[in-house]
Amino acid sequence: MEIRRDLMLLWIVTILLFQNASNVEGRHQVIKKHKKKSSSKGSPAYAPSPEEPISQSPNYPPPVPSDPSDPPAPEDPNDPTNSSKNCIFDVTSYGAVGDGETDDTAAFTAAWKEACQVESGVVLAPEDHVFTITSTIFSGPCKPGLVFQVDGVLMPPNGPDCWPKSDSNKQWLVFYRLDDMTFTGTGTIEGNGKDWWELPCKPHRGPNGSTLPGPCNSPALIRFFMSSNLVVSGLRIQNSPQFHMKFDGCEGVLIDKLSISSPKLSPNTDGIHIENTKSVGIYNSVIGNGDDCISIGPGCSNVDIEAITCGPSHGISIGSLGVHNSRACVSNITVRNAIIKDSDNGLRIKTWQGGTGSVTGISFENIQMENVRNSIIIDQYYCLTKACRNETSAVYLADVAYRNIKGTYDVRSPPIHFACSDSVACTNITMSEVELLPYEGVLVDDPFCWNAYGNQETLTIPPIDCLQEGMPQKLAESSLYDC
Ligand SMILES: *[C@@H]1O[C@H](CO)[C@@H](O)[C@H](O)[C@H]1NC(C)=O
Ligand SMILES: *[C@@H]1O[C@H](CO)[C@@H](O)[C@H](O)[C@H]1NC(C)=O
Ligand SMILES: *[C@@H]1O[C@H](CO)[C@@H](O)[C@H](O)[C@H]1NC(C)=O
Ligand SMILES: *[C@@H]1O[C@H](CO)[C@@H](O)[C@H](O)[C@H]1NC(C)=O
Ligand SMILES: *[C@@H]1O[C@H](CO)[C@@H](O)[C@H](O)[C@H]1NC(C)=O
Repeated sequence: MEIRRDLMLLWIVTILLFQNASNVEGRHQVIKKHKKKSSSKGSPAYAPSPEEPISQSPNYPPPVPSDPSDPPAPEDPNDPTNSSKNCIFDVTSYGAVGDGETDDTAAFTAAWKEACQVESGVVLAPEDHVFTITSTIFSGPCKPGLVFQVDGVLMPPNGPDCWPKSDSNKQWLVFYRLDDMTFTGTGTIEGNGKDWWELPCKPHRGPNGSTLPGPCNSPALIRFFMSSNLVVSGLRIQNSPQFHMKFDGCEGVLIDKLSISSPKLSPNTDGIHIENTKSVGIYNSVIGNGDDCISIGPGCSNVDIEAITCGPSHGISIGSLGVHNSRACVSNITVRNAIIKDSDNGLRIKTWQGGTGSVTGISFENIQMENVRNSIIIDQYYCLTKACRNETSAVYLADVAYRNIKGTYDVRSPPIHFACSDSVACTNITMSEVELLPYEGVLVDDPFCWNAYGNQETLTIPPIDCLQEGMPQKLAESSLYDC
């Protein structure tokens, strides 16, 4: 455990050093790399690709026989448990067809079950195949070093009509109770989301552009739940029915070199969502979708996001927090060297009226905006129905820094909007080298602030006179904001 964590830290440090040395270059390379199919070959540190003979690596010791009293296995080269085959559990050896139609679920669960038993086992979905599986929970605990490698295409049944009625329609691929696991490959996770997006309960998908009420479940494509020391890298993930990737109750997550995409108007297709998850690095990825590029929910801390391109999207979002008077705690979040383009929001913090807890230690640095609406926004009046009352408590926001945020904004909304709660002011907002110009046309609304305190280290463009200096006179009862 201890060693694994150190290793993870070493990776993160290595990445940071590398990125700092070649920031601008790196950003351009990200995009190029994702266009090539061979992206994971360039990153041997993360996951074995099928070309790399795993058995020769000292990191991958031979598997321990499951039961020493078993008779020796017959000499069958096709025996999928054959240990000299480098602990690779190829799903086609378990009956997966991969023709884009056959249900291959049983083969995947069988391969998983055996890979789970050996150290550094690899579940392999090989290239040149299109595998279909139904909603499945791949659960642990497993031996450490497990790899789920998709080099081909892996997809769920096509839309709600083909979804088995007995399956959960809230999630598809679920990884549960795992420690030290990698999800990687040169392949594609195809969500087949189109028919889910068209459901009449989705925003503006009903008759005549209406939204019909009612439960509107759609499956999140990939979910990691109650797991630790995870690496997700290299994959293309697209067209999710709902969130593309979701981490809940996890600790130690490294995301690298992903390409996530779905259309601009696909509803609720957040790229990467984390909640109740700590120690997360998200690097070198390109995300374009119909909702938040990255969303950070309650209970997240120590999150480092770097070299990300978002757009189209709804930007990078902390929240929404404090719904139904809940306590929300988010701290130590860093977003650096990102590009946000053609998006409905840029850097957003949103909380509901009536919550408690706090959001502290948030740093946005070196962000390039291109045609972004609400480039910088704090909204403590978040409400989906426009019928939310102002309440006497709120999630407390403090120590939020915006440094070197430059580029263009969509003039339909003011580029800077700090709507802090009446009951508790936002404090210690730092603005430094924030320079935003209209993408086209002229500024319609000036920057807006309400109950927002902080300081400008340099003059902000457009000028933001409404940010109040110093600290507010009253900071209400502090135990409400404890975390
Ligand atoms: C394992 O597979 C290899 C070739 O793939 C074969 O040479 C070897 O005999 C097999 N061993 C066992 C124990 O089945
Ligand atoms: C949709 O609009 C058309 C034409 O305006 C109308 O005839 C129809 O009744 C409307 N349908 C619904 C469900 O409102
Ligand atoms: C903040 O998070 C980073 C990782 O993003 C971590 O290295 C650092 O130790 C954290 N700082 C504190 C004070 O916990
Ligand atoms: C809530 O407070 C804000 C800021 O004082 C104000 O603009 C808004 O009208 C209030 N909303 C309601 C429903 O009272
Ligand atoms: C204000 O926030 C910055 C981080 O943005 C932090 O370093 C500093 O200590 C905070 N100042 C106060 C007075 O809390």
